[in-house]
Amino acid sequence: MTDHFAPTSRTVLRLTEYTKADQTEILGDGADPFGVAEAGLTWLPKKDHFGIRQNGRLVAHTGLLQLPIVIGAVETEVVGIGGVAVAPDLRGQGLARSVVSAALDHARTMGPRFGLLFCRPPLVPLYQRLGWHLLDQDVQVEQPEGPVTMPLRTMWTPLHDGAYWPAGAVRLHSLPM
Ligand SMILES: CC(C)(COP(=O)(O)OP(=O)(O)OC[C@H]1O[C@@H](n2cnc3c(N)ncnc32)[C@H](O)[C@@H]1OP(=O)(O)O)[C@@H](O)C(=O)NCCC(=O)NCCS
Repeated sequence: MTDHFAPTSRTVLRLTEYTKADQTEILGDGADPFGVAEAGLTWLPKKDHFGIRQNGRLVAHTGLLQLPIVIGAVETEVVGIGGVAVAPDLRGQGLARSVVSAALDHARTMGPRFGLLFCRPPLVPLYQRLGWHLLDQDVQVEQPEGPVTMPLRTMWTPLHDGAYWPAGAVRLHSLPM
């Protein structure tokens, strides 16, 4: 008999916590699972976490948190998305799409008009496929020693109908996520 209420392999759960061990369960214990070590940045942990479990194993994650930003003359906040991770043996099956879209559903309830993420250049087409836009300008972010220009690509997505990224210099008033 089919249990119509059983979670499917795509059911995204809100996780009560996300530890280093959880990340290792998904990505393994390699030194640089996100491929960003070269950038030498200090990152913020995320606040809200979303994941997909298959047979009890955590196989996908993304996290988010609200951050202050100044765009031109506009002081506002964005929902920063990060820690997007899918187990290597399950990539290419839409798990990142599922977990990111569930996180964005939540982000739409938080207030800010935009989601923001930083990624390596090869991932730009993937996020464009998920509806994100490349912000083709320098973005300043905080680091322990002071503001620096983000060396990775910056992408944004609207969280509300008609939200369009304002023109002007962009400075994230926090560590990147
Ligand atoms: C990046 C990562 C999360 C992608 O996970 P994934 O589950 O393989 O991604 P998905 O299968 O959900 O793909 C998402 C979409 O991007 C598309 N896509 C994938 N690679 C693409 C590419 N190179 N160009 C364009 N589109 C691409 C997919 O076809 C899919 O679109 P569709 O649903 O319309 O078919 C995964 O490779 C990973 O964990 N990498 C290591 C950690 C990391 O670098 N995380 C990123 C931090 S910013």
